[in-house]
Amino acid sequence: MSDDLREQFDQHLEALFADEDEALQTVRTSTKQHDMPSISVRPYEGYLLNWLTHMAGARIAVEIGTLAGYSGTWIARALPEDGKLYTIEKSSKHADVARQNFDMAGVGERVEILQSDGMEALEQIAQHGPFGLVFIDADKEAYPDYLTWAVDNLHQGGIVTAHNAFRNGSILHPETESDYAVRRFHQMMADDIRLRAMIIPTGDGLSVAVRR
Ligand code: DHB
Ligand code: MG
Repeated sequence: MSDDLREQFDQHLEALFADEDEALQTVRTSTKQHDMPSISVRPYEGYLLNWLTHMAGARIAVEIGTLAGYSGTWIARALPEDGKLYTIEKSSKHADVARQNFDMAGVGERVEILQSDGMEALEQIAQHGPFGLVFIDADKEAYPDYLTWAVDNLHQGGIVTAHNAFRNGSILHPETESDYAVRRFHQMMADDIRLRAMIIPTGDGLSVAVRR
């Protein structure tokens, strides 16, 4: 499929399924206002995360890499009223913006932001598991470690999912440490008999595995 056709198809998908309300639009565009990188998931990737959270029947979810809270809002909205999303963000500035966004989007009570390094925070929250969904969208070098933690801390039927599976194509011709780490991450997913894994080839690719 040509890039142009792919973009048209993406927009078609978005119009069909990714029913953003005003709050989600505001969260998505808030990165620009706050001079943050515009690397949130696309609207239909956010919708996919919402859908996966429903499919897993998740009550407690974990996100690594909050940014402004866009993907987190999609995930939190699929949790039950008494559910909880633990979302981990290293940057205090990003965590502050996300806090405002979660409150504005009406999911503030369901979301706890941990302003911390990824692995340190995961070790802290493990006691609240097992979890129904783990979404990974942070430092790519650590994807293998995040996956190891996720497999150990998901309940049966729980889902681990990760953004940037394709890394804009660079996983096919890896050069950087990040490229190699994401490749290793997929090999681990494919080889682990406790998982059934796949990459949903949409956007920048969404890796998904269900815990058997
Ligand atoms: C980039 C995009 C992402 O979605 C991400 O999680 C990290 C980096 C990027 O385009 O640089
Ligand atoms: Mg990403």
